[in-house]
Amino acid sequence: MRSLTKSNAQFKKALKKLPLGVASNFRYWGDDKTIYVKQGKGARFSDLDDNQYIDYRMGYGPGILGYADDRVDAAAIEGMKVGGVFALATELEYTVANRISQMVPAAELVRFSNSGTEAVMAALRIARGYTGKDSYIIIEGGYHGLFDAALWYTPMEDWVEGQGDPELVPYSDGVPQMLKKLIHTVPLNDANKLEDVLKKHGSDIGALLIEPIMGNCCSIAANAEYIHQVRELCDHYGVVMIIDEVKTGFRVAKGGVQELYGVKADLCTFAKAVANGYPISIVAGREEIMRKVGNGIAHGGTYTAHSVSLAAANKTLEILDETSALEDIANFGLDMQKGISEILDSRNIAHSFSGHPSMGGLFFNEHPPVNYRSWKKSDYSFYDTMAQHLHELGILCEPDSREPWFISAAHDKSCLVETLNKFEKAVDQTCEQLKVA
Ligand SMILES: Cc1ncc(COP(=O)(O)O)c(C=O)c1O
Repeated sequence: MRSLTKSNAQFKKALKKLPLGVASNFRYWGDDKTIYVKQGKGARFSDLDDNQYIDYRMGYGPGILGYADDRVDAAAIEGMKVGGVFALATELEYTVANRISQMVPAAELVRFSNSGTEAVMAALRIARGYTGKDSYIIIEGGYHGLFDAALWYTPMEDWVEGQGDPELVPYSDGVPQMLKKLIHTVPLNDANKLEDVLKKHGSDIGALLIEPIMGNCCSIAANAEYIHQVRELCDHYGVVMIIDEVKTGFRVAKGGVQELYGVKADLCTFAKAVANGYPISIVAGREEIMRKVGNGIAHGGTYTAHSVSLAAANKTLEILDETSALEDIANFGLDMQKGISEILDSRNIAHSFSGHPSMGGLFFNEHPPVNYRSWKKSDYSFYDTMAQHLHELGILCEPDSREPWFISAAHDKSCLVETLNKFEKAVDQTCEQLKVA
């Protein structure tokens, strides 16, 4: 058994000053399971007890090149010398904006923020300001950040098929119930349902928020036909299509999920991979819409376009654009999935993968779900048990099956071999524990 003695002691100490002993609720894994990191490099990190891990969370995606990438850190140090934030603009803002426009054709104009949440908040405001319509559509299972308008979800565990649509509930106390009136939810990959909602409420709906690969819902992916139908329906009903690329952006392709599907958003948001973990995010989109910013629509902030983050973004995007990093990441993901399949097939364990290999979801069912409703049909208890064994063995995947496995350019052959060896062990331990034949 791995010892978490020092992490547990740190937890007790931290609890005195931090709710749940951590800085973000998602980092609390239980009183005796919460991990405190000592140091990370590449695709690996160690905890306070010197347990070594290969990481498949990578901070939920930001570590696209790996932790403490020397090239990005050197650029960040140069950025530090610029001086931080001035309540004035700096030269690099244009350079980075231009680079983004070249990589993502839909990003005709660009504004920066600090977190994914902030970028999506801005996108929603811009969409409403542009259309003059307050209601919006979100997709069941989608996640768009920690702000009141987005903190709503459909608890699928409680939903029973054939008994109507799942209920929409706030994700947190403190989210005003009155906001619910503005939200419509639809399942992914069901254009008819979307059309029904738009027929009924289209005159009030200003925006549709979608992650075509649901990075917070096991990478359940839209099919291409559906995405193009969504595009057409948004055009027809005057709804701003916001593609939230906070997880997929600069990861699944140089031009993000929009390149993969051959679709252009009206507005799109980016964050995680932009600067290899330095805090910066982006709201970008069609010029006609984005020109409203500063012309009726508010946007800005004290820490926007910090010189360190901008310099890190410039270097990270340069590497992603000009090297084979994203191809290498995808190939690692495919090799890992092939190895995982061999292990599971040899034990007759039905499984499938979803999304993109750089952030793939693993399901214990023959076919991947087409939306969050069908996720219910996969055996997530097998995943949940296996994840605990993987952690003990030093493979850090998300404990919840709804989070995909994030690959970075620092995941190399040695990571692959070690991961597959340990995966095989964890599968056998899980079978034994769950008495799977
Ligand atoms: C698709 C999506 N949008 C928005 C967010 C919010 O980003 P942040 O955590 O940086 O505020 C996330 C975070 O996981 C995300 O995955």
